[in-house]
Amino acid sequence: MGKLDGKVAFITGAGRGQGRSHAIKLASEGADIIAVDICEDIPSVNYEMASAEDLAQTVKEVEALGRGIVAVKADVRLKEQLKAALDQGLARFGRVDIVCANAGILPMKDNTLIEGFIDGMDVDFVGAHNTVAVVAPHLQAGASIIITGSTAGLMKNTTEAMGKTGGVAYSFAKRLVFQYIETLALQLAPHSIRLNAIHPTNVNTRLLQNDDIYSAFRPDLVAEGKTPTREDAEVAFPFMQPMPISFIEPGDVSALVLFLASEDSRYITGLNIRLDAGSMLKGERAI
Ligand SMILES: NC(=O)c1ccc[n+]([C@@H]2O[C@H](COP(=O)([O-])OP(=O)(O)OC[C@H]3O[C@@H](n4cnc5c(N)ncnc54)[C@H](O)[C@@H]3O)[C@@H](O)[C@H]2O)c1
Repeated sequence: MGKLDGKVAFITGAGRGQGRSHAIKLASEGADIIAVDICEDIPSVNYEMASAEDLAQTVKEVEALGRGIVAVKADVRLKEQLKAALDQGLARFGRVDIVCANAGILPMKDNTLIEGFIDGMDVDFVGAHNTVAVVAPHLQAGASIIITGSTAGLMKNTTEAMGKTGGVAYSFAKRLVFQYIETLALQLAPHSIRLNAIHPTNVNTRLLQNDDIYSAFRPDLVAEGKTPTREDAEVAFPFMQPMPISFIEPGDVSALVLFLASEDSRYITGLNIRLDAGSMLKGERAI
C-alpha cells in the first residue's frame, strides 16, 4: 500500500532536478505521473535546460518502480502546450489529483531589453499560474496543488541583487507566489482542493550549480578578474543557512511534496512553507 495509490500527478520541469525527484518519490508511493519539460534552451538563461534524454531518464526511473508515466515536451509559458500534455495524460490515466508547478529558471542574460525579466516572469510566475489554470478544471475534492517558490524570493538581497533583470524577476515572481497561494487557496478550499507552496533554500541542482551563481556567491574573486569555480562557491554557500549546510538535496523537497500531496496533510492549505535550514531567520525578510 502506497500513500498515493490510484492517484495521478502532473509535474512540470520533470526532466531533471527537483521535478524528476518529485516524479520518482510520488511514483514510489503509487502515483502515476504526467511529466512535462521544455527540453530546449531559453536564450536568456546561461545554463542549459533539461534535454529530451533527461526526460527519458525520468520515464525510465518511474517505470522501474512499476508506475505509468506520460512524458511530454511542453513549455509552461504556453497554455495550449500544457493542455495538450494534460490531455495525453488524461487519455491514459483518466484523472489528475496532484499538481506540482515546479518548472523554473534563473535568467542572467538580457539579449534584448529586459529579456531576462520577461522570461523570468513568464516561466516562474505565469508558468505556475498556467499550470494551475490548465489542470484545475479536472481536479476533484481531495486534490492537492503544490507550487515551488523560493526562499530567495522571500528575502531581500538575494537574486534581485545579482545585477541582472532576470534575477529581479526571479525574486518578484517567487514573492508573487506567496500572495497567490493565500489568495487562491481560499477560493479552492470550499471545493476541498488544497493549494500550498514550498520555498526552498539553495537546492543541489543545475539552477544552483552554474557559473552565474558561483560568481554571485564570490564577488570578491570576480572583482579580482577571476572566474569562480564550484569549489570557490562552496566556501560561501553555507553563509545562506544558519544550519551548517551548503544546500539541500532535491529529495529533501520531494519529502515535503509527498506530505503535501497525501492525505497526511488533508487539512493543510494556503501555506507558504519554508524549507530553508533557517535562512529566513537570518536574512532580511522581503515579505
Ligand atoms: N536550485 C535551487 O537552488 C532552487 C532554490 C529554490 C527554488 N528553486 C526552484 O525549484 C524549481 C525546480 O528547479 P531545480 O532546482 O530543479 O532546477 P533545474 O534547472 O534542474 O530544473 C528546472 C527544470 O524546469 C525545466 N523548465 C524550465 N523552463 C521551463 C518551461 N518554460 N517549461 C517547462 N519546463 C521548464 C528545465 O528544463 C528543468 O528540467 C524551480 O521553480 C526553481 O526556481 C530552486
